[in-house]
Amino acid sequence: MKIDLSFNPAELDELQIRDKNVVVIDVLRSSTTIAVALSNGAREIIPVESIENAVKISGSLFGDVTLRGGERNGKTIHGFNLGNSPLEYTETTVKGKSIIFCTTNGSVAMHRSRFARKLAIGSFINATKVIDFIKDVGADFLLVCAGRANAFGNFSLEDAVCAGMIVYELMREESADLELTDSSRAALALYKTYGRSILKMLKETEHGRYLIEIGFLEDIKLSAQVDSYPVLPVLNGNVIKLLKDEE
Ligand code: MLT
Repeated sequence: MKIDLSFNPAELDELQIRDKNVVVIDVLRSSTTIAVALSNGAREIIPVESIENAVKISGSLFGDVTLRGGERNGKTIHGFNLGNSPLEYTETTVKGKSIIFCTTNGSVAMHRSRFARKLAIGSFINATKVIDFIKDVGADFLLVCAGRANAFGNFSLEDAVCAGMIVYELMREESADLELTDSSRAALALYKTYGRSILKMLKETEHGRYLIEIGFLEDIKLSAQVDSYPVLPVLNGNVIKLLKDEE
């Protein structure tokens, strides 16, 4: 079983991903927000790659059951119902709703990966669910770190450390017959360096510091709680829903 990893979704060709098993990781904050929203009863999340498409799609859906969520520069997009803070996605707000979701990196990486054979959404708050899913599928996987579109090299440490945690836990399995690529090996090394305090690491990353600056420290605290939302969001067609245990 080969575990490959991409630090930069911009380099991924949509067709190259076709038929691969993929986990998209955007710890701060899209993957975390999706896990919280679906845990709190959202019907589905529809990831889109642009604000224009979010507006177009929501125009054709019923207003009452549809919300638009997402961010630019970490802040709510003008005319949207919700931003990208997981704390906004409460049961009262999202239960039964379809959420059209547009963020700078996360939703773009998810949309780009839509032709994958299987696609799960990963973060620290649902890490073990993702690890168990990879074990159950028992085939090659590509871990896609959503990265940062506006940053040099598109690298984001928090996504790499989360991917490294997944690799680390897969390797602990006694029967594991894992083949690691150089990039998944690099993520593993980063997890070994930074994994001891996830919260500290998140607070120190570039995006973490930016989010704190604009008032989202509580989001970072929530994002650091390993396995606090034990759910598995998966893409099915164009929508992300929870995979129920019995499926
Ligand atoms: C993104 O998709 O780039 C992020 O989730 C940004 C954010 O923290 O809202």
